[in-house]
Parts: sequence; structure tokens; C-alpha cells
Amino acid sequence: MPDQALEYARANRPRFLEELKALLRIPSVSTDPAHAPDVRRAAQSLAAELERIGMENVRLIETSTPTRNGHPLVYADWLHAPDAPTALLYGHYDVQPPDPLDEWLSPPFEPTERDGNLYARGAVDDKGQMYMHLKALESLLAAEGRLPLNVRVILEGEEEVGGEGIAAFVASHPPELQADFALVSDTEMFAPGLPTLCVGLRGMIYTEIEVRSAKTDLHSGMYGGAAPNPFFALAHIIASLKDQSGRILIPGIYDDIALPDPQELAAWQALPFDEDHFRASEVGAKALVGETGYSVLERIWARPTLEVHGMPGGFTGIGAKTVIPAKAMAKLSMRLVPGMNAATTFARLSDYVQQIAPPAVEVAVRLIHSGEPCLIPVDNPFIHAATDAMRQVWGRETVFVRSGGSIPIVGDFARHLALPTVMMGFGLPDDNLHAPNEKFHLRNFYLGIESILRFLQLAGRAS
Ligand code: BES
Ligand code: MN
Ligand code: MN
Repeated sequence: MPDQALEYARANRPRFLEELKALLRIPSVSTDPAHAPDVRRAAQSLAAELERIGMENVRLIETSTPTRNGHPLVYADWLHAPDAPTALLYGHYDVQPPDPLDEWLSPPFEPTERDGNLYARGAVDDKGQMYMHLKALESLLAAEGRLPLNVRVILEGEEEVGGEGIAAFVASHPPELQADFALVSDTEMFAPGLPTLCVGLRGMIYTEIEVRSAKTDLHSGMYGGAAPNPFFALAHIIASLKDQSGRILIPGIYDDIALPDPQELAAWQALPFDEDHFRASEVGAKALVGETGYSVLERIWARPTLEVHGMPGGFTGIGAKTVIPAKAMAKLSMRLVPGMNAATTFARLSDYVQQIAPPAVEVAVRLIHSGEPCLIPVDNPFIHAATDAMRQVWGRETVFVRSGGSIPIVGDFARHLALPTVMMGFGLPDDNLHAPNEKFHLRNFYLGIESILRFLQLAGRAS
């Protein structure tokens, strides 16, 4: 039953796509201080667009503090539906760095269409998905002159670096975030054409382990044999954190985990998951790893992880240099599942690292950022409205999944604002998030706009 807002969304697809491309051309890489002006430019262009489509009270909210250079939040609202609920629409306009650049088939900040996909850094994570919200709002406002419910929009520019600014803002319970539910489109569909709601995310602690072994770099011939080598100490520490089967050896780490209930596990069993396709096509590895006794979906959704991201330090230049470096570092993170919390997990990791560190070295374990895991109760009217909307647009029943990734603010919405979040995402498993050749399937962009539009209409009648 097409209505005018839907017709508007369909008629304006080519323009919506061109506008998204303009946003994707701004390299809003939040982790790189050199790109701070670009991050701000992205925020300003979104504020201008929110203003243009008829949202009100549009403004940037600064998140810098005396000790931190934060990226701005973008806020807007439309609050003229006194009898309807209030939605809080969240998205992030910052992106991951584009490297390695030479693996992109087209440049990361020159959005390019190929085989029904739009390729660019941020295409799906999260500019393209965030933009679906704006285009659904535009379609409703343009076709009907009003929205079917009250809407607040909050966009952040530092999700990819931990989201400290928005976390502090949410924790202060600002009146700007008063709402009945939140909508986040920053997750994936389980399979092409299969409508999916994400109901659980892992949390994380991101850390740095620094090993110092001497007051300065040393000639490896003059001192080698007697001077401690920080890389061996670091390798020993890292190798002691997990056993061969992938079990984490930090004492107590599994103590607090809340296991998925049998019903949820049975639903995962019924999902169209092909382990060999996952191994060969998505991961591209000879074999998968992980804790024995748990399925792949359990390992990525419901078990904690410990990963090493890089080990900076020492000599890595061209040629040879005979030196024993004075220090070595590892970037190491853990993903947390429901039941675990960031502070306790960091304390356990840090204590264990000190305990297993070789006596000749000094070790520092630093926390860079953290976020709590979350699990969304599914029996609420907004989840029902979401599955109804998806049925109308995709013609299929919705599956409920968790995701192994983290969106720290979703847990904060529940904890600080008591908001249930609907995570309605339209990425695909092969969209290359955080990797070269990130893409967004265009059909998902267009049907995503329609799904969100329908959802807002149905949520306006829910309570
Ligand atoms: N959108 C992702 C998280 C995600 C990916 C959820 C796939 C579901 C499916 C988000 O932008 C992200 O990358 N988050 C970071 C969080 C971190 C930097 C705190 C992550 O998961 O590594
Ligand atoms: Mn994201
Ligand atoms: Mn991301």
C-alpha cells in the first residue's frame, strides 16, 4: 500500500544517492588529528541538511574538554506530535582510516558505483546507513508536512575512536535525549534480502601494553646475551593469555558471563549459516580458530575475545640494524559479552599481565577506551513495529541476531536513559567494514530508507 512519503522516497532515489556521495567525499577520519577539520565539515554539512529538510533546533554540540579534543555532536528535533511517542535517531558520521590505500579498486573518498554497490570509506559504516534516517525524515516531512511521531536526531563524530564525548553527554541525562526508544542503523543483515534486527552487541576494552627493558636501545653484540629483550618478554606475555584452543587464561574471565538461553541458541541454529562459506569467502583462511565446544556464531556473538592489533616498536625499517630495543608495545583489545563489565575485565587483564611478566622488565597496561556489552529485550512495541515494517518492505519475517561488534552508546542508552534500542541495519556480510573496498549495496540503501520510513509510521501508533 504505497503512500505519498514512500512515493517521494522512490521518486528521489537518484538525488538521495548523489547527496550521499557528497557526504562520502569528506574524509572524516576521527582517529587522525590532521582530519579534524574534515570531521567538523561533515558535521556542518549534516546540520545544514537537517535544517533544509525541516528539522528544528539544529545545532552542533561541542564535546571538547580542557584535556581532550572532541568531535562535535549534531542535534536536531521535531516535536509536534503530542500524542505519539518520541524516537531518538542515532548514527555516526566519522569513519575508519582508509589504509591500506593500494588495495582499493577506486579511491576511498571518491564514491564509485560498481555492480549495484556504492564503494567508499563510510559507505555502510555508518554514513550511508545514517543517511537513510535523514532521507526517511525528508520523505515524511516533504510528502506529509509532518512526522508521524516526535523525533530527536543525535549524530556523533567519534564512534570509531570510543565515543567518549557522546558517552559523557548521555551520562548527564540531557533533556535533548528524552525519548521512548532509540533507532540505530549501524549493523548488518544476516544474509541478502533477509530482514534482521540486532539485539545484542559485545562491549570492549582497548588497551596498550608497554614493556620497558633498559634505559636505552643497546648494541645487540655488546649486550646481547645479558640484556633483556622487550619483544621476548612481550611475546611471552601475549602467548600466555590464551591456550591452543583459544580459551582465555586470565583468571576469573569467564566467571560472570550470562549464557544465551536455549531458545536464543535454537534460533541461531535455524539461521542460514554456512561455516565453510564463512571460512573460505568471508575470512579467507585455511581454518577457523576458537574455543572448542562452541559454534562459530556463539564464538563471535556470545564469547569474549582477546586480540592483538599490532606490535609497534624496535627496528622495522628497510635493511638491517643490530639493536636490542629498550621498549616494545602491543595494542590489545578484548570484546565483552553480557554479564561482563569493562572495569572488572580491565583489572583482571592488567593484574594477570603483571603476574606473568618476566622479572627483568617493567610493564605498563593502559586503557585507551572501553564500552559495555548490551542485550535488548525483544518483547516491546517498538521491536514489534520494526518487524511489521520489515515484513511490508522485504516480504519476509525478521530474524533476530547478535553482533560481535561494539556500539558503546547503545548500552549507555539503556543504562542511563532506560531506552530500548531498535538496531535495524542494512549492511551485508561482504561489505568490507573497516577494510579496503568498503561498500553499501544500493538496493539496501533504498529499501532501508523505506523500512525506516514505515517503521517510524508504525512506531507512531505504538505504545
Ligand atoms: N558499526 C560498527 C559495529 C558493528 C559492526 C556492529 C558490524 C554490528 C555489525 C561500529 O562502527 C564499530 O566499528 N565499532 C567499533 C567500536 C569501537 C571502536 C569502540 C568496533 O566494534 O570495533
Ligand atoms: Mn558503525
Ligand atoms: Mn565501525
